[in-house]
Amino acid sequence: MKSPCLLVFLLLLEHSAVPAIAGAWPGSCKTWLVQSIPTDMPLLTRVPGVLSSGEVLRWMAGNATRRLDVIAQYWQFLAQPENPKSGDYGFSEADLDEFGANEGRAVYKALEDAAERMVDIRLLQHSGVFPDFTQEPSDLASGKPNVHNVTLLLGDWWGSGIVHAKVWISDSRDIYIGSANNDWKSLTQVKEVGIYLKGCPVIAKHLEVYFDNLWTLSSLNSTEHTRTVWDKTWQASRKVPCWSHFIPFKQRCRSPLRHYLEVPQVVGYPIITDPDMFHVPIVMTGYNISSSLPHPEYYASYLSFAPPELLFDRIQADEQAWVETIKSVRYGGSVRISSMDWLGQSRYTKQTIYWSSLSSAISEVIFSKNARVNVLIAYWAHNLEGTDQHLKSLLYSNILCKSSKYNKCHGKVSVKYYRVPGFNKTGAALINGTATGNTYPAFTRVNHGKYAVSDVRAHVGTSNLVWDYFYTTAGVGFGTYHPGVVAQLQDIFDADWNSPYAVPVEPIAAA
Ligand SMILES: *[C@@H]1O[C@H](CO)[C@@H](O)[C@H](O)[C@H]1NC(C)=O
Ligand SMILES: *[C@@H]1O[C@H](CO)[C@@H](O)[C@H](O)[C@H]1NC(C)=O
Ligand SMILES: *[C@@H]1O[C@H](CO)[C@@H](O)[C@H](O)[C@H]1NC(C)=O
Ligand SMILES: *[C@@H]1O[C@H](CO)[C@@H](O)[C@H](O)[C@H]1NC(C)=O
Ligand SMILES: *[C@@H]1O[C@H](CO)[C@@H](O)[C@H](O)[C@H]1NC(C)=O
Ligand SMILES: *[C@@H]1O[C@H](CO)[C@@H](O)[C@H](O)[C@H]1NC(C)=O
Repeated sequence: MKSPCLLVFLLLLEHSAVPAIAGAWPGSCKTWLVQSIPTDMPLLTRVPGVLSSGEVLRWMAGNATRRLDVIAQYWQFLAQPENPKSGDYGFSEADLDEFGANEGRAVYKALEDAAERMVDIRLLQHSGVFPDFTQEPSDLASGKPNVHNVTLLLGDWWGSGIVHAKVWISDSRDIYIGSANNDWKSLTQVKEVGIYLKGCPVIAKHLEVYFDNLWTLSSLNSTEHTRTVWDKTWQASRKVPCWSHFIPFKQRCRSPLRHYLEVPQVVGYPIITDPDMFHVPIVMTGYNISSSLPHPEYYASYLSFAPPELLFDRIQADEQAWVETIKSVRYGGSVRISSMDWLGQSRYTKQTIYWSSLSSAISEVIFSKNARVNVLIAYWAHNLEGTDQHLKSLLYSNILCKSSKYNKCHGKVSVKYYRVPGFNKTGAALINGTATGNTYPAFTRVNHGKYAVSDVRAHVGTSNLVWDYFYTTAGVGFGTYHPGVVAQLQDIFDADWNSPYAVPVEPIAAA
């Protein structure tokens, strides 16, 4: 065994031998934050050095030489203005050009080209959306032995829930994780945030295990591998895979998937005290971080997954990653949170489950750490009922904070709704031959990014902030303490938050 001194010496030697130029670290991966910005948002400040979702997805398909794995909720890269059932119906070619529909076409073409190059492609998705469901992945796979397409219905396994992760893995090295669906509108008509990691085989390998596990589920008979049990943690009777930790230890089956540790005396999935962290150096060319900061390999990064039954090794659950990103805030520091949806409960379950994990974490840091927490939630044509009440409940923490002269609470939570202009004029241009007056296609003009950033840690995910996304729905997060990613993600948030498109949610009056 090497002595610790020798090891330190070797590490120092290694550092001093490497020039401190971005991109020059041996074995380092490169990273960029990725956005989609809807057209017609002239008052939104652009953050320099951020890539666009369309170009990143196109490059990932374009660069793939051996394999490409894609997890999608649904597919609609090709606009369908001719299809009366489509939310694109009735818009002209000129409209679609203005909407940026060509970007979706370019990504689809890059996928077709990769299929032609005999890249081994695996496409895994939920059942898709109206009107064409799984037509695109099916077309890509049709007649191509190197392209495989499967539909996985998580409702068969968790009673409700869907594949909601948006993940691309190219050549087991390059990764996209973010909010953008495989949909042309997600590239230019919906506000999205993601992260692109290039040349990161260590992280990609872990993500591939998650992918393989989902792929395995799609070939298993769910009836033989699920149980409906009383879930003590969430006080509800619900269907879970038979290896779930929500089932008492002695009654659990052996998981057909890659396992993680067994925890016999515990119900549910407790917080892991030392979750897996990657210590691969990450360089960021899209952001100029101060040269006085330590070397890039000092910053840990992680993956997180939902639902918890799909965890392995010591990878943390998506919920833990969100909670710990909020709690990573320094005393007197700030946390920024952006999501399409926010509900302190479940939405799609038989019994309604109360869920205070995130609002508690926020209240805890505004109380004891005097943190400032800014929460930005979408306001659009399809808001979840109850959103306003749950946000006002969160704002009530400000009143509790000041409720006693003995409190030393000086933190504050603020909430804004994000209204992308045109949000209330979406839908097909023609319905039954009648002009609707809609100016944008259906399901557009919305803030769809899902991320949190404190002053030290950034988390970019695919899960909306509603119970179901953490316990019955497939989701993936990537987080890091890299100061460049932290600072640039703060800039992205602040550009939105300080824009005229973000409007404060008014607190309920104090009694
Ligand atoms: C980083 O700094 C260089 C040199 O000052 C500048 O040319 C470049 O635009 C900067 N990049 C970003 C993303 O700010
Ligand atoms: C491969 O990726 C790089 C950026 O990572 C991009 O500049 C290049 O255009 C991509 N190649 C193809 C064929 O898409
Ligand atoms: C793709 O998957 C869908 C849904 O499972 C299926 O209906 C279709 O036949 C598949 N297409 C090909 C070419 O495998
Ligand atoms: C799944 O398993 C159940 C119970 O063993 C059986 O009745 C059913 O036919 C199986 N389904 C398939 C598709 O094999
Ligand atoms: C759409 O929203 C804007 C901004 O809130 C508002 O001024 C306008 O009246 C709304 N239009 C409709 C049709 O609701
Ligand atoms: C269009 O017309 C058909 C037949 O009259 C009707 O069933 C359908 O509901 C109409 N669709 C809409 C969106 O109004």
